[in-house]
Amino acid sequence: MIQIPKGCKDVLPAQVYAWHKIEDAARAVAEAYAFKEIRTPVFEHTELFSRGVGDTTDIVNKEMYTFLDKGGRSVTLRPEGTAGVARAFIEHGLAGGVLPFKAYYLISAFRYERPQAGRLREFHQFGCELYGAAGAAADAEVISLADRFLKTLGLKEVALQINSIGCKTCRARYHEALKGYFAPHLDEMCGDCRSRFEKNPMRILDCKEEGCKAIAAGAPRMLDYLCDDCRAHFEEVKRLLTAAGIAYTVNPSIVRGLDYYSRTVFEFVSAAAGAQGTVLGGGRYDTLLEQVGGRSVPAVGFAAGMERLLMVMEAEGCMPPADMGPACYLAGMDGASREKAFLLAEQLRGKGISCEIDLMERSIKSQFKYADKAGAQFVIVLGERELAEGAAQVKDMRNSASECVKLEELADYIQRRL
Ligand code: HAM
Repeated sequence: MIQIPKGCKDVLPAQVYAWHKIEDAARAVAEAYAFKEIRTPVFEHTELFSRGVGDTTDIVNKEMYTFLDKGGRSVTLRPEGTAGVARAFIEHGLAGGVLPFKAYYLISAFRYERPQAGRLREFHQFGCELYGAAGAAADAEVISLADRFLKTLGLKEVALQINSIGCKTCRARYHEALKGYFAPHLDEMCGDCRSRFEKNPMRILDCKEEGCKAIAAGAPRMLDYLCDDCRAHFEEVKRLLTAAGIAYTVNPSIVRGLDYYSRTVFEFVSAAAGAQGTVLGGGRYDTLLEQVGGRSVPAVGFAAGMERLLMVMEAEGCMPPADMGPACYLAGMDGASREKAFLLAEQLRGKGISCEIDLMERSIKSQFKYADKAGAQFVIVLGERELAEGAAQVKDMRNSASECVKLEELADYIQRRL
């Protein structure tokens, strides 16, 4: 028996309604902020991610699904959505169009990680990206969108944490401070962190090894090294969030797992989102577009993990009720009434009324049993007598009341009672 690859999940029809709820909320909220959907390829040239996400990150070093295609080019299944959107924005010359550019996406993404609760190899994201606006209002708008999205799903116990990781200038000073702090501990740190020390010491703060985490706990904090501009930007983001009534805490240890961020970074966390705890993460990334070949355009965005959202919704009791069954089940008896049921179902479907008929050649008793199990609201019986009179017997399964209804009035009758 061939089984599903490790770290992937099937979404069965009985579960998909909850995905629809998240996707509908995502679209509605994103569009309320005037974001439009963007679709980019599932795979990109590997270089996009190594340059964009950063070659000192775990994602690029350990987790990418990279392969040579038949033409010998190195391509990678997207580990996230931001780099692809940035590439499309540059490639289509959108920086020369109307700004800000605001796009959202619902995508699958791929990371070769060790699967556990809330951590998959194929997972799904709802993400939003805003390009062209450098001011704190753009950060606040994107955070507000994320917050409203989570609230629309009914989530109450997901907490917003924010931080600032500064710009190139203030981060250079911070890197020196980090190096000074970590240098005496290098022997106790993992091999990855020793190379991070040289290339990008801030990545050490994101290490998952217990020993490194313990050392990192006492490291200097970026917030103490912000330059005046970055500090003013962060203060303004916080002021706007407070003015909008969006609760947050400042968590100086948020550095994010991708290299492209600058200034504001944020995460929405919940104890119910698996070992990682982060349901949604994002931030400002003012240098990414330049890094992947465009001109300098300020940017801010986030992505939420759909599977983690589902875990949190389950834990908070926010799962929507399961989908209802069809509006009508049209029971057939003999050949003539079965054919009539088929044709009548076609007519009703044409008017937007969902219908099922018997495709299993069941007895009338079994058809009623099936209709009940399937959750049909009405069972329509086309007996010999009813057919002769051009009518049908309609049973309302909610209260078992039956009524004889003329066929030409059937659609109206059902629509009024749904
Ligand atoms: P990220 O923090 O790597 O950021 O991922 C965003 C969200 O995707 C996480 O908070 C989590 O819910 C979900 N996620 C990530 N990896 C997995 C996994 N292996 N299994 C299940 N869920 C996962 C980004 O991807 C950035 N592109 C976000 C962004 C957009 N920043 C600016 N714009």
